[in-house]
Amino acid sequence: MNKSFILSAALFASSLSVSAQSTPRNQLTPTPPMGWMTWNLFQGDISDKLIRETADAMVEGGYVDAGYKYIFIDDQWQGGRDVHNNMIPDPKKFPNGIKALADYVHSKGMKLGIYSDAAQLTCGGWTASLGFEEQDARTFASWGIDYLKYDYCNAPIDSATARQRYRTMADALSKSGRDIALGICEWGQRQCEEWCEEVGGQLWRTTYDVRDMWKDVTNEGGMGILDIVNITSPLSSYARKGQWPDMDMLVVGLHGVSGPSSALGGKGCTQAEYQTQMSLWCMFSSPLAMTNDMRKVSEEDRRILLNREVIAINQDPLGKVAERKVNTDTHQIFVRPLADGSYAVALLNVSDAPLTLTADFAKLGLSGKYTVRDLWQHRDIAKNAKNWKGKVQAHETKVFRLK
Ligand code: GLA
Repeated sequence: MNKSFILSAALFASSLSVSAQSTPRNQLTPTPPMGWMTWNLFQGDISDKLIRETADAMVEGGYVDAGYKYIFIDDQWQGGRDVHNNMIPDPKKFPNGIKALADYVHSKGMKLGIYSDAAQLTCGGWTASLGFEEQDARTFASWGIDYLKYDYCNAPIDSATARQRYRTMADALSKSGRDIALGICEWGQRQCEEWCEEVGGQLWRTTYDVRDMWKDVTNEGGMGILDIVNITSPLSSYARKGQWPDMDMLVVGLHGVSGPSSALGGKGCTQAEYQTQMSLWCMFSSPLAMTNDMRKVSEEDRRILLNREVIAINQDPLGKVAERKVNTDTHQIFVRPLADGSYAVALLNVSDAPLTLTADFAKLGLSGKYTVRDLWQHRDIAKNAKNWKGKVQAHETKVFRLK
């Protein structure tokens, strides 16, 4: 066998393995991606060092084991384009380049996401991908990127253009030779839940940016936890395996610290409110993107972020998300069927005082008697039960698993 034959056989084999590895787009995220995103706390203050330290902290803190596998680099990583128009990272923030960073993140058993925008500039005014979709997708693939959050600032308002621009990027990612999931971030303003799959996306953002607050009381237009629940609930029938409602980042553990999530009234939340965010982001199978500083997390915040029984609801393989069955001025009740035949039931007290609430299972469509497990207390609390009655703190959500 001569050398050139061996070389071309090897090239053929490697080209085969590339195409054999490429996953159909609608199978790229069989469960909602979980990880940590740079934006809400660090904004542009990001670096190779921060990402590596965060990856280390996520492994050591048990987050990766619990399923938080992604690090999502958000806006302000860009350093423009080189003479060949290839996108480059800011050399001060990422002196080793993104490929070396991705290698490091992958060596920890994790994945790396990056950010761009379907216009010439991102929301922060940095280099974006319009007109360079294939070139940028190839660049991201060559770096080892696994996920792209694709924003929609500085782009035309109509839906047809949005669809076309997202499709162009999804096609470019498909051709890049690497499996790269696509998160559509047009904030639900053009009903992306209706066309996300058709254009090759896996996640559809449901609202404008989450703020570290319960709800918008200042009328500045910021999205609090309850606002996002109320906007997302009516859309839940659009969710299905591989098509997830992106309710934006978790603000759990930010406690009002300054950053993008502290704008527009984002003054911080109570632990009950943070528990509600985790509970309902899991009931709806939103991606879970933590944004607090992973190098210093309090026990109280770890209790919320690392509740594996609630995470199991988020990641349930059936992929059917919650339906809101009750919606009154004082409380809301959500039901979600699970792969093992059990049901998750969540009770949210939206009033500003503690309430005694009742869930009559038959009225929720669940006839029969159930063993009730409280997923925040981590224990079975009733057997052969047809209802649950108990106290729910202001803005708290309780989650039960009914078997
Ligand atoms: C938009 C997005 C945010 C974040 C910023 C970055 O506001 O909705 O999630 O990515 O842009 O500039």
